[in-house]
Amino acid sequence: MNKFIAVLVLHCFISPAWAEEAKLEKIQVDTSVLAVERGVDTFMNACHGCHSLKYVHYRDLAGFGVNKDKISAWRGDSTLDAAMTSLMSDDAAMQSFGKIPPDLSMMTKAREGGNSYLYSYLIGYYLTPEGMTSNHVFPETKMPDALGMSGATDPAQRSEVQAKAHDIVSFLSWAADPHEAERLTLGYYVIGYLIILTLLLYNVMLAVWSKIK
Ligand code: HEC
Repeated sequence: MNKFIAVLVLHCFISPAWAEEAKLEKIQVDTSVLAVERGVDTFMNACHGCHSLKYVHYRDLAGFGVNKDKISAWRGDSTLDAAMTSLMSDDAAMQSFGKIPPDLSMMTKAREGGNSYLYSYLIGYYLTPEGMTSNHVFPETKMPDALGMSGATDPAQRSEVQAKAHDIVSFLSWAADPHEAERLTLGYYVIGYLIILTLLLYNVMLAVWSKIK
């Protein structure tokens, strides 16, 4: 038993997953319509050239309440029912990066650390002493510094990049689960219903017992 505990404790200290977690900047996403709208805006400018969102449709944005004129500007010739796919072909991506940029529809669920991982990755770019770009959470990444964190020198510029990253992650987190808010509201209704039902049944029980006594 002692040996088992020792192995467990040791495992906690040497596990790389724990080491990774420590580097992540923890964030809470803001899935209000305004934050998501800002997030899509930045996403379309800074990410959509390379990354697709094949499970997200322009109509989903409209259904959520995002400004219709903005959606028209983003989708261009695509229909409202079209998925938000990127224009970059796999061949072109392979030529430029030697890798195909992953679809981001489910990315906040796909990586350990979720939203915090994505945020930390986007703001994790820095310049090495040799003048190369690297990334704190994914050092060997083939993706360029899309938001320009490595070139942001003063605090105002850095917080601007952080705000953009936060909005993008809020949008991607909403996109990975567009019905979460509805589910939560439904959950509250169900719990309220169960509490009322319990009280009613309790009263019925009291009434029945009072007759038996
Ligand atoms: C110039 C093309 C390009 C742009 C622009 C770009 N990416 Fe990427 N992205 C890539 C490539 C290539 C990869 C694959 C990196 C790798 O695995 O080495 C990638 C990977 C990723 C990953 C996965 C990282 C992982 O853990 O595997 C995320 C998340 C991501 N990008 C988000 C974004 C976001 C958000 C933006 C906009 C701010 C963006 N990307 C802009 C090319 C791009």
